[in-house]
Parts: sequence; C-alpha cells; structure tokens
Amino acid sequence: MARITASVFTSHVPAIGAALDMGKTAEPYWQPLFAGYDFSKQWMKDNTPDVIFLVFNDHATAFSLDMIPTFAIGTAAQYTPADEGWGPRPVPMVQGHPELASHIAQSVIQQDFDLTIVNKMDVDHGLTVPLSLMCGQPAAWPCPVIPFAVNVVQYPVPSGQRCFNLGKAIAQAVKSYDDDLNIHIWGTGGMSHQLQGPRAGLINKAFDNAFLDQLITDPAALATKPHIDYVREAGSEGIELVMWLIARGAMSDVNAGKAAPHVAHRFYHVPASNTAVGHLILENT
Ligand code: DHB
Ligand code: FE
Repeated sequence: MARITASVFTSHVPAIGAALDMGKTAEPYWQPLFAGYDFSKQWMKDNTPDVIFLVFNDHATAFSLDMIPTFAIGTAAQYTPADEGWGPRPVPMVQGHPELASHIAQSVIQQDFDLTIVNKMDVDHGLTVPLSLMCGQPAAWPCPVIPFAVNVVQYPVPSGQRCFNLGKAIAQAVKSYDDDLNIHIWGTGGMSHQLQGPRAGLINKAFDNAFLDQLITDPAALATKPHIDYVREAGSEGIELVMWLIARGAMSDVNAGKAAPHVAHRFYHVPASNTAVGHLILENT
C-alpha cells in the first residue's frame, strides 16, 4: 500500500532559482535564505521518498489565459523545465509517475473533484524552485514527481476549504494504490507578497507566522479563511498559500485520526525578491 509520510511547504520565488543558477548563494543577500534550507537538503537525503506529489501553480507558462484549469494533474512520463523568458533553467528534466498519477486522477475524480488531465506540460519556477531548494543542484532529481497545478493566478480561484478537502481526497487515493510507495506531498507558493499596484512589495510577517502556526495546529479552522482575507492581509499573490492546505489536508492527523504531525523544520525569512519566504517540513506520526 502506498502511504504519505511527510509534507513539505515552501515559497517558490523565481529569483531564488536565478541566484542558484548564477552561483550567488553565498552573497550576503542570499546566504541567510539558503542557510534556512541546509537542514532540508540533508533531510531530503535521509528521507528520500519514492515519489513527490508536488502542488504548485503555473504562472501563465504552460496555461495561458486561453485555458485555465482550476486543478490539473500531470500524468506524463516527463516534464521539461519551461522557458520563462530567459531560457529554461539549467535543471534536470522532471520524471513523472504516470501509473500513480493516473490512479490518483481516477480516485480523486470519482470522489467528485473535477481534475484536468495533463499529458504534456512544461513546468515553471513554481515547481522547479521548490525542487532546487530541497535538493540543491543534482544531475538528476532524486525521485519521480507528480505535478499538480492549481489556478491561483486568475479569479475565480478555489477556496481554502476546497483545497483542504482535495488534500483529503488525495490521501484516500494514495491509500488505495497497491504498490508499497513512500510519498511526500508538497504545498508551494506564498508567503505574503504583492507584485503589482500601489501595494507592490507588501509583506505581512504577523499574518505569515500566524498562518504557519495554524497550518500546523488547526488546519481545519485555517481552511475556512476566505479569499478576501488572504488578499487584504497577505497581498494579491499571497493567495498562493491556499495550495498549502492541499498538502496539509493529506496528512494522517486529518485523515486517520493520528496525532498532530512532527514539525521537523520551520523557517521564515524576509526578504527574497518581493516576498516573505516560509518553509515547513511536517512528518506524519
Ligand atoms: C515573485 C514571486 C512569485 O511567487 C512569483 O511567482 C513571481 C515573482 C517575486 O517575488 O518576485
Ligand atoms: Fe508565484
């Protein structure tokens, strides 16, 4: 039986990818940020999963405004790092897991979530920057990845409650897969940031840290937070945080009556480009 053993939460700031790719990690601006992921890279080596189920958002890269799926699951064998305007990042191809992805699609759609099936997709910084932060700069990523894209770019976006419930459905889907696979589920994006308009550059440390606290201790209550609260308090792009509720909703305290997860690592840092960077590693008990 497949099982989810841990969840990982991290921001995906594109400038972090550029800093890594251009060898700037030791510069004073970036050093404290990357230091926050030293533990995480070792943890990934010590706890390498068989598959990462990676919840992220596409930034009008694979999906333009011509077509906007709310939830899209990648069922391809591999995914190419996208060219977002400066050439593709020099990172490995992302290997998929079509069998498990197809099983999850089948199960989650039968649990009444309408997923879009994606057989071909280039993956942007939303997916590759979290992989770089957690795995460094390897010749190949340590395991297959199932990309799961959520629309948080163009309104209307899914509610926190729907994301949390979707996480529960993903947990059920994983449980009903026969192969003995160790799976990590990642929620990415956030934390507070606004890239546009008069409030561009907005950061809200109090909101971010309260979000991290509640994500750990009371995710069901956090799931009821309405969109407008994210936008008002965490900025227009702070809405990316609803994706973290998908990963949190798949943990065993929510689905199997287990104790609250173990907080293996928690990190918060400002600034990184225009955002606050937040990061958690939670292990199922
Ligand atoms: C920035 C952050 C994002 O999440 C993003 O998708 C693009 C840019 C930034 O901080 O610059
Ligand atoms: Fe983003």
